[in-house]
Amino acid sequence: MPASTALTFDVKPNQKPLAESDRLKAFENLGFGTLFSDHMAVIRWTSEKGWHSGEITARAPFPIDPASSVLHYAQEIFEGMKAYRAADGRVVLFRPEENARRFNESARRMAMPELPEQAFLDAVEKLVRIDAKWIPEGEGSLYLRPFMFASETFLGVRPSKEYIFCVIASPVGPYFKGGAKPVKIWVSENFTRAALGGTGAAKCGGNYAASLVAQAEAVEHGCDQVVFLDAAEHRWVEELGGMNVFFVMDDGSVLTPPLGGTILPGITRKSLIQLARDEGIVVEEKQYSFEEWRADAASGRLREAFACGTAAVVAGIGTVKFKGGEFQIGTGETGPVTTKLRQALVGIQRGQGNDQHGWLHPIEGI
Ligand code: PLP
Ligand code: COI
Repeated sequence: MPASTALTFDVKPNQKPLAESDRLKAFENLGFGTLFSDHMAVIRWTSEKGWHSGEITARAPFPIDPASSVLHYAQEIFEGMKAYRAADGRVVLFRPEENARRFNESARRMAMPELPEQAFLDAVEKLVRIDAKWIPEGEGSLYLRPFMFASETFLGVRPSKEYIFCVIASPVGPYFKGGAKPVKIWVSENFTRAALGGTGAAKCGGNYAASLVAQAEAVEHGCDQVVFLDAAEHRWVEELGGMNVFFVMDDGSVLTPPLGGTILPGITRKSLIQLARDEGIVVEEKQYSFEEWRADAASGRLREAFACGTAAVVAGIGTVKFKGGEFQIGTGETGPVTTKLRQALVGIQRGQGNDQHGWLHPIEGI
């Protein structure tokens, strides 16, 4: 698609949308990622035509050839973002341009075609507009999952010549079953998530496939999430299976592992760094070892720790478990700095805070 030509979308409304009474019933007990809206956005790419055939259509399975290259070589990337119903009734997205940009960074790493940012944003907006009634009121939100996969029927190992981009939407409540309760984290000492030169900074499905056995180990040990250490030394704290991590020290400063190619550059992470600095908090992007983590938790130098991401928002970390035992962070409860940063972020996302950086992207006409 030439840069100047906007992609158009054929809109084919779902002829059998879920009945309102069933939708409202499903809204009564929202978890994460189990319920889906009536529509999806789809755009196709071929090496001959580029991006074409944009459509908003009824959510439905894709017919996939068994030789489709994604099924063999895992050329797949995705994004995670949310639409919120703001306090004043507006429907808003939070920094969606950042998702569009990161999607293309992931595409480049995985040898996939880049999608013009405007087409990404249009697909998301059009889906939210047609499925606006799927945005839950109150604390829930509509989780949006843009993704792209290799759809060429071909078993040779090279980048596919055909791709499907799609956005689906899922009304969600809290990511963790315990709601606002602090989470328990399992330190993976055997498995690593990403090495330098690998795909750790890309949001590709393969990273999550590689994390599942470690996440299962976390669950076996009664934990909510796994935290990974670096691949080279098994020493430095990197990130959780699906979230970035922050530490709050006794001098009030905040520390988070630096982006060095092995962790996902989280949009929540970036936003919280800014919000903390706006509050006058010193934030360092600095390596932090598991050894230091344990020692600082014991000495009281470490006051709080929290996980953050689009799905999880901001979740206090109460307990850390590892092969040799476990330790508590601070009082084991969500601390005051974590709570303050969470409130600042959620306040902006819900249209109640001061959006001084212009992060909200209202969707007009809903
Ligand atoms: N790290 C990983 C591995 C993730 O899957 C996510 C979630 O998307 C994050 C960090 C947080 O990123 P974001 O704040 O952009 O959702
Ligand atoms: C997100 O927060 O959007 C993610 O992709 C992480 C995953 C835990 C769902």
